[in-house]
Amino acid sequence: MKKLFVTGLPVVGDQLIGRDKELKQIIHLLQTGQSIILIAPRRFGKTSLLLTVLDRLKKEGHYVADVDLFGVVDKRKLAEKITTSSLENKKIFKFGAKLKQGISGLFKNVEVKQIIEDFEFVLKFVEPHTRPEELLEAALDFPQELAERDKKDFYFFYDEFGDIGKLDGDELLKLLRSKFQRHQQVCYLFAGSHESLMKEIFAAEKSAFYKFGSIIYLAEIASEDFREHIGRKFKQEGISVPAEVILYLLEKTRCHPYYTQLLCQHLYYLVKGEKAVINEHDLLTGWENAFIAEKTYLEKMWEEMSGAPAQLTLLTEIVKGCGKLYSLENGNGINVSRSINSLLKKGIVRKEEKNKYVIIDPFFEEYLRRSE
Ligand SMILES: Nc1ncnc2c1ncn2[C@@H]1O[C@H](COP(=O)(O)OP(=O)(O)OP(=O)(O)O)[C@@H](O)[C@H]1O
Ligand SMILES: [Mg+2]
Repeated sequence: MKKLFVTGLPVVGDQLIGRDKELKQIIHLLQTGQSIILIAPRRFGKTSLLLTVLDRLKKEGHYVADVDLFGVVDKRKLAEKITTSSLENKKIFKFGAKLKQGISGLFKNVEVKQIIEDFEFVLKFVEPHTRPEELLEAALDFPQELAERDKKDFYFFYDEFGDIGKLDGDELLKLLRSKFQRHQQVCYLFAGSHESLMKEIFAAEKSAFYKFGSIIYLAEIASEDFREHIGRKFKQEGISVPAEVILYLLEKTRCHPYYTQLLCQHLYYLVKGEKAVINEHDLLTGWENAFIAEKTYLEKMWEEMSGAPAQLTLLTEIVKGCGKLYSLENGNGINVSRSINSLLKKGIVRKEEKNKYVIIDPFFEEYLRRSE
């Protein structure tokens, strides 16, 4: 069945809902030469937003590239990804695959041959004894050198940048910073979900990346943007959703980008070919189906938290809406401030007002409620 509402993939271009303000702000910052750091909880649309930014910049004729650090296991792989992604601007795709064919394979391709003539380091990828550090140093400077040679501005996006610590934390960060700050024609975009990790990298005075760029926090999608989109999408399929049902839906998902799309998709599965008007009962059935579909993810979240029982106790209290978190300090011997801070840093809760916290993931909240 067709996917009326996209989930599970970054949403780019026309598919992107809302985010007009953010797009404008980020493009403006980049075009004035500032790098940007985008921080938001999981599944808030960081990748979607920044890929859309790159898309626009590319259409304006600039060079763009993106590297997702998730799953990059070593420096050699990182060097390869940076080079491959940069080369896509020269319409050299699957450079990694071409490398596997060895030197003769590389020289078969006219464009690659030209690149090798101008950037000799590319050949080092096929020399068996090249040190990964050497490759990485050269690859890190490659975007700047390519931009210089072709007289272009280059926008380079590192996704899941918090994962850099898995490679060689501090040393690598120092190397990156020392390189990036000399790149006159490259602006950098970074995204990450782990707020505390990202802050350690970009906002701690002792960090190599301190004050490297503007930090932007991404919130949920604006309710009016979602309202318009949901009504229109269902209408296209001949299904009508009364305004109060859309409002109730957004109340349940709290405009969380991923879960709102997920719930809409499940609603669509439910009513397609069956009904022309969606009511509240359908909405609750859709919610239930979406919840079941997310079970494995939610269980994993729960397992990750189980090593911190004090935080779980606090979450349960927040779900109950007691608002007396600090009374747990005496009864249960929990250090409430410390646990709350950890939850804030992990992006699991957000402070709404004094002593009032909400759980950012609406489905995890439901999961906690049902686990009681
Ligand atoms: N602006 C948007 N318009 C429409 N859907 C969106 C938008 N932002 C996010 N989504 C929904 O959320 C999902 C996750 O988006 P995306 O991968 O961009 O988020 P992310 O913050 O990068 O997530 P992760 O933390 O997992 O990397 C998308 O597949 C889509 O369903
Ligand atoms: Mg992402």
